[in-house]
Amino acid sequence: MKRLQHLYKKSFCLSEETDKEFFDCVRDYYYTQEFQSLDKSIQHGSITLIQHIKSVAYLSYRISKKLNLDFCKTARGALLHDLFYYDWHDPDPSHRLHGYFHPGFALKNARELSAKNNLELSEIEENIIYRHMFPLTVIPPKYKESLLVCLVDKYVATKEIIICSSEKRSKKFFGEIKESK
Ligand SMILES: [Fe+2]
Ligand SMILES: [Fe+2]
Repeated sequence: MKRLQHLYKKSFCLSEETDKEFFDCVRDYYYTQEFQSLDKSIQHGSITLIQHIKSVAYLSYRISKKLNLDFCKTARGALLHDLFYYDWHDPDPSHRLHGYFHPGFALKNARELSAKNNLELSEIEENIIYRHMFPLTVIPPKYKESLLVCLVDKYVATKEIIICSSEKRSKKFFGEIKESK
């Protein structure tokens, strides 16, 4: 658990210099305007959607390396798992049942972004995106890589909710991040 917490904190301080292999896997998508636009959306509390995704992608990448899985596909699929372009807190009727529908939106957006940039999504990457909300969406992930991202997403979401549950916790966490940079 300590190790996971360390990796989670590290996911706030990623750079091309220190995490080259991770960026080698995700660079094609990471610098697109579409992906960078996720910086404007909030996921939980003060944590942006882009930071949520970076945490899920980085932890999934590190764990999949340890488990001898396809770590590049894991990182790329995780990077696209929440690729939706709206704020789900917005009370717009079209955002209703966000939890059920956004894996489908993310997959559609990921396919479009791939086509636009002459990239191809593998079956594993598509499954990571489409099945990450299991068990809310009832069909389970098909690959070890997609099961891993599904679990890491829940871990990261729980961390975010805890960090943002009080001002004191949030200040402490972001203070530690600042110190470690
Ligand atoms: Fe999601
Ligand atoms: Fe997520």
